[in-house]
Amino acid sequence: MQWLQNERVSTLTRRMMSERPPGPGWRAAMNVLEGLRRDPRVFVQEMTGRYGDVVHFRIGHQNLLIFIHPDDIEEILLTKAKSFHKDRVTGLLRVGLGDGLLTSEGAHWKRQRRMVSPSMRKRQIASYAQAMVARAEAFAQTLGDDQQRDIHHDMMILTLEIVTDTLFGADIGADAHQVGQSLEIMLESFLHYTRTWRRLLPPWEVLLNHPVLGMGRGLEARDALDKVIYRLIDERRAQPDAGRQDLVSLLLAVRDEDGSQMSNLQLRDESLTMFMAGHETTALALSYALWLLAEHPEAMARLQQEIDEVLKGRSATFDDLKSLTWAHAVVRESMRLVPPAWAVGREAIEDVEIGGYLMPSKWQALIPIWNVHRDPRWFDKPQDFAPQRWLEPKAQELPRFAYFPFGGGPRTCIGNHFAIMEAVLVLVTLCQRATFAQAEGHSLELHPSVTLRPVGGVVMDVSRRA
Ligand code: HEM
Repeated sequence: MQWLQNERVSTLTRRMMSERPPGPGWRAAMNVLEGLRRDPRVFVQEMTGRYGDVVHFRIGHQNLLIFIHPDDIEEILLTKAKSFHKDRVTGLLRVGLGDGLLTSEGAHWKRQRRMVSPSMRKRQIASYAQAMVARAEAFAQTLGDDQQRDIHHDMMILTLEIVTDTLFGADIGADAHQVGQSLEIMLESFLHYTRTWRRLLPPWEVLLNHPVLGMGRGLEARDALDKVIYRLIDERRAQPDAGRQDLVSLLLAVRDEDGSQMSNLQLRDESLTMFMAGHETTALALSYALWLLAEHPEAMARLQQEIDEVLKGRSATFDDLKSLTWAHAVVRESMRLVPPAWAVGREAIEDVEIGGYLMPSKWQALIPIWNVHRDPRWFDKPQDFAPQRWLEPKAQELPRFAYFPFGGGPRTCIGNHFAIMEAVLVLVTLCQRATFAQAEGHSLELHPSVTLRPVGGVVMDVSRRA
């Protein structure tokens, strides 16, 4: 590793700032498009295998750089974060999510992050543990013996219920389903537009706000969502209750340093953002953890032994989290092998030097978390599912951005503690009551959209534990 680092430093000093990173060149434009369409993870693998840690390529008029070295990623996400904005695809989510944390920039983002952060700190979210376990237990009750289920579908419902109860208050009830469905329709139709029309009509992003090119369903879904969210905000404003711990109530009460409060529009944007960012990713993390455990019965057996020893048959609580070390290692390792957010992107807003290369303003950076997590320079046998690696001292020596399922730097996931707590509590509650095995004839096929989604679900055989 030391040798690799020395080698790298000398490579960087040799590079001229004017030098363009290597890459496939414009003649390979069709191959690039085809490679990205087929599977961007494989495309990145091939490109970095051929050209190294930084690869340049073009799509039409757009210049893109792939970065897979943790030091370069640290520069982009952390030390030189001021030179970047989110990438264009994230920018498109704005049509649905407005200027929430995920999509906003600059002073607006900074103010919102300052105001939302206190409600996502560890101490605040500890009070959500009970609701998470209660929902997981209610779901576990529905599991029959020797049953085949699409666990991804189940986890999407379960995490939506949890985000609803904890962040919005249980009384939103039946509306939760509508919110979940409308979110799905809205995002799907915007992504469909991105994948098809936008590539052909680059300057026509303005069309996103009009019911053309298949956008009608998406905009209808957005209106339905707004109705529910604004009603919720109005109700909370009309009857403020200092005892309420849900996100909308907390955000309604919070004041910025200058004493100002969030407007209804800001509350709407942040609520929808949390709804979207807060349930699908965690549902994926749980589905993949269960799938990998089913594939590795010895890891499942060790988990169930830990659960039985720590919980002794009772329900999990927040205080148990510190004793559930194997469960944490399983969640970490699942998110290494199958990170729910498979990549993050950035756009340079000024000329900036990254990894010894000049990255001009407006160029896009693709940071493929999936590929970095499987780099043999940082992980022994990187394709293996080995939760044990997180319990060994070597795990402390990893470069900072060799493992980053939640991103990093100032734009790091604000829900990371919430997500880990939820994933561990739900996982132990389910594996306390049931065992999951891969269903015959079903494999796991992944489709890298904004998140890494399973094609055809995650189908497993479930049997109840005594
Ligand atoms: C396993 C679950 C999760 C994963 C893998 C995940 C992943 C990520 C990643 C990679 C980013 C950074 C994106 C970037 O830098 O471009 C991010 C940002 C964000 N996440 Fe998560 N997330 C998860 C759960 C959650 C939860 C539970 C919430 C809320 C309750 C949440 C809310 C957010 C928000 C609001 C941002 C934007 C933060 C900002 O830019 O200030 N996420 N997430």
